[in-house]
Amino acid sequence: MAQNSRDMKRKLYLETFGCQMNVLDSELVLGQLRAHGYESTEDRDRADVILFNTCSVREHAEQKVWSRLGELRPHKQQRPELVIGVIGCMAERDGTDLFRRYPHVDLLCGPGELDKLTQLVHNAVITGADRTRQVALMGSNTRRSATLAAAEDNLELLDLSRSISSEDDIAQAYVRITRGCNKFCSYCVVPYTRGPEVHRPPGNIIEEVKRLAQAGVREVTLLGQTVNHYHYRDGDGRQTTFAQLLYDIHEAVTELPRLRFVTSFPRDFTNEALQAMRDCSRICRYLHAPAQHGSDRILKAMNRGYTAGQYYDFVDRARGMMSDISIASDFIVGFPGETEEDFELTMEMVRRCRFKNSFIFKYSPRPGTVAIDRFADDVADADKRSRNNRLLAVQQEVSESINRQMIDRTVQVLVEGESKLVSRQAAAVGKVELGWQRRADESSAGETQMVGRTAGDQIVVFPAPRSLKGQLVEVRIVGAKNLTLFGKLQEVAVSV
Ligand code: SAH
Ligand code: SF4
Ligand code: F3S
Repeated sequence: MAQNSRDMKRKLYLETFGCQMNVLDSELVLGQLRAHGYESTEDRDRADVILFNTCSVREHAEQKVWSRLGELRPHKQQRPELVIGVIGCMAERDGTDLFRRYPHVDLLCGPGELDKLTQLVHNAVITGADRTRQVALMGSNTRRSATLAAAEDNLELLDLSRSISSEDDIAQAYVRITRGCNKFCSYCVVPYTRGPEVHRPPGNIIEEVKRLAQAGVREVTLLGQTVNHYHYRDGDGRQTTFAQLLYDIHEAVTELPRLRFVTSFPRDFTNEALQAMRDCSRICRYLHAPAQHGSDRILKAMNRGYTAGQYYDFVDRARGMMSDISIASDFIVGFPGETEEDFELTMEMVRRCRFKNSFIFKYSPRPGTVAIDRFADDVADADKRSRNNRLLAVQQEVSESINRQMIDRTVQVLVEGESKLVSRQAAAVGKVELGWQRRADESSAGETQMVGRTAGDQIVVFPAPRSLKGQLVEVRIVGAKNLTLFGKLQEVAVSV
């Protein structure tokens, strides 16, 4: 399948929407396609193959892809040999219906079939403008366990195919530990688009983390929709829990300075897993454990499987073991039947739990889910918007107060790159910034505003040379806003 000559390399444009799983999937498929003679391009107009790795979680996420596909209609008329593909969750959810609306799409591939993508793209490319459509979807309702097992083996091969090289110069990487989801929260498409939950063998996970660390990666984030539900039983009946996996990675990969994981399901947090976080110095004390709502009535309709009281207990347990743990959440506002009183309970939860930050979403009814069939989308959009803004305001107050407590502390920061914040915006923190301004002006040695994150996932902006990108450094916090900490680089870089 590989092309023989460099000149024949086909140009591939890949745009990714959605969550970290999709980012990782894009990395894997790009690696595969590169290995088979494709070359990635940032210029969509010069591409021979255009792929969108899509998300279906809210309608808004799908709308972005619809508009991309609409834009491409005239391109396809001019160049019928152009290959346009939709991959990921929206391909799986929409299925071949998508062709009715967008007949110029040539290829559909769901997230559970991505091991077949290279072949599909190649078939589309070689058959040119006369091609038949290339489709690979799992069709979640018709799967049988034998086919599922085979599909899983192939997906595992895709994960294992990851090309890792020290030349890639990357500081952060994702490693999947589970695929799919079994929770069936009533509003959510993920169990339908990604299929049932499957846990990867611990040996493969550890090996992948090790290879990444040896190639220079400084922070690995373990991924799963309900990552802390990880549980693997091997052929001999030996079991590996999530807590054990954390201990094992920590022990096996001592050269990795930072290990984190997302997204945690609150109900599944064992004391052992929290103990592992407490005991292992290189595991970040950060949890993204979405609560979704503060009202028991709504949590029940959402099928989340816990009450607000149980969520509070979980937060108390985590903070009881690690007083400095940083916790983030997601919330949905305007779920069917949500009253002002229900909403107040969500506001109360944000105040009491003191989340580092919360991602707040307006309820979006999704075709194929239980909620859309069972409940009318009866909260007016104006109310959804108002609740979204009010919740955001409360969260911002909490975030700012948490951030202000960081002032004068020295924290370890992984430098991600240049900050997009211009000095003038940062000047809002007052005198401190004037000091930076002077320093930045004085410096002709390429010093600029750099941005990075603490172990607790707080964003820190500080003046530093660009060359520190990808390094772990010590930064003293000198100012704080709700989304950002402002700091001063300390002389000594961490040399883990
Ligand atoms: N597996 C993760 C979340 C995956 S989806 C978990 O369970 O925590 C990311 C977030 O999108 C969810 O936490 C939820 O807050 C939001 N979300 C999912 N479906 C939604 C819908 N139909 N409308 C609005 N928000 C939704
Ligand atoms: Fe969706 Fe719930 Fe699974 Fe998260 S746990 S992916 S919200 S079904
Ligand atoms: Fe979206 Fe699929 Fe992730 S629906 S949030 S890309 S699992």
